Amino acid sequence: MFPASVYTTRRNKLRHELSGGLILFLGNQEVPFNYPANTYSFRQDSNFSYFFGLDHPDLAGIIDLDEDKDFIFGNDVDIDDIIWMGVQPTIKDQALKVGVMNTAPLTGLNEMITSAVAGKRRIHFVPPYRGETILWMSDLLGIHHLELKANSSEPLIRAIIRMRMQKEPQEVAEIEKMVDVAWMMHTTGMKMAKPGVVEREIAGKIEGIALSNCGPVSFPVILSINGQTLHNHYHGNTLVEGRMLVIDAGCENDLHYSSDITRTVPVGGKFNARQKGIYEVVLNANLAATRAVKPGVPFRDIHMLAATEIAKGLTSLGIMKGDPAEAALKGAHTLFFPHGLGHPLGLDVHDLEGLGENLIGYDEEVQRSKEFGLAFLRFGRKLQEGFVMTIEPGIYFIPELIDIWKAGNKLSEFINYELVETYKDFGGIRIEDDVLVTADGYRVLGKPIPKTVAEIEDLMS
Ligand code: GLY
Ligand code: MN
Repeated sequence: MFPASVYTTRRNKLRHELSGGLILFLGNQEVPFNYPANTYSFRQDSNFSYFFGLDHPDLAGIIDLDEDKDFIFGNDVDIDDIIWMGVQPTIKDQALKVGVMNTAPLTGLNEMITSAVAGKRRIHFVPPYRGETILWMSDLLGIHHLELKANSSEPLIRAIIRMRMQKEPQEVAEIEKMVDVAWMMHTTGMKMAKPGVVEREIAGKIEGIALSNCGPVSFPVILSINGQTLHNHYHGNTLVEGRMLVIDAGCENDLHYSSDITRTVPVGGKFNARQKGIYEVVLNANLAATRAVKPGVPFRDIHMLAATEIAKGLTSLGIMKGDPAEAALKGAHTLFFPHGLGHPLGLDVHDLEGLGENLIGYDEEVQRSKEFGLAFLRFGRKLQEGFVMTIEPGIYFIPELIDIWKAGNKLSEFINYELVETYKDFGGIRIEDDVLVTADGYRVLGKPIPKTVAEIEDLMS
């Protein structure tokens, strides 16, 4: 946990962004895995973590905008709980650690909300995303669960986005520590990528590194020799020479700051000529996009720069043809790079996404495209100092997509379908780093993880 002053400062800042009423934050509850007493590992809600810091289930926080008071509601453990869980600090003692002086049992929350509703006070809340919280909030506020989103507070959502997007130095330090753990995960995974090894042996090992060094993985490990499937969670294939292994994995710590890194390596440790050709194109797109990061630049422009670099590279390999800039503008690269360049990273691996992708990533100036490929870009607006973004271009040969495009002769002035056919057994490559926007540019966070062909071959030899 950060010092109490961090949480007090954040709550006061939020208080100044809104006027009148209450701000209600419901923390997460335990979620049953297969029966009520057997739960998933507890994960606190990120907004609750950000403003109230405490990492326990069944807590609620209120910022009273009219009275200048903050509250934490939660029940102290009783002797039955102590028998199973041991002695726990009281809610009062926990609340003091995050600078909150006013505490009460959960019945007090019901009373405060009932009285606020009766007094027609504005209750600001963000849309809940978990079934348990949706039910709790619906009961508490007397709003039908399907109406909660429509009744959530856009001023609150916008204020949280402004605050959480702009990382504080101590937040950047926590993210960076998680990139360093990702360094261990990825270098271990690379060294294990030998023919005959089953994917799950590597996936299990790197998930164990996360667990033994910090918290859990920040999202289910993506690891496959079928990297043409963007989020492949099947880990049952045996590694064979000639395939590339995509590992997209990160971890989060006890404060829930996360990392999200992707590396792609040739099984056995040596790139063949075809793999090296495609790899260098993705690497070049990753480096060019990273170098373009600075305040004031729309992330969509950086995405398009990466797209153009990919079109240029694939044109030089004969896979694409024509003018690469025009090809990218017309979306021809999306046959190979169908996703967005990256997303914000922080307390959530897709930071703040639960508040609404378009509110986070788009504004009046930069509106979300509806075109295939560009529509998947989660964030398009101008970067600001303090944002942390992933930069993750990729090239994928998705046989099913190739067949559809080829059958329709789609954008055939830019695509050499005959040569593309020969790449249907290639798989995919993605290279992802976590990048801080600084006052005059960027900083790639964490200990550098081997990325060039030479660095990867060296590590794997
Ligand atoms: N690393 C998974 C994702 O960015 O969606
Ligand atoms: Mn990512």
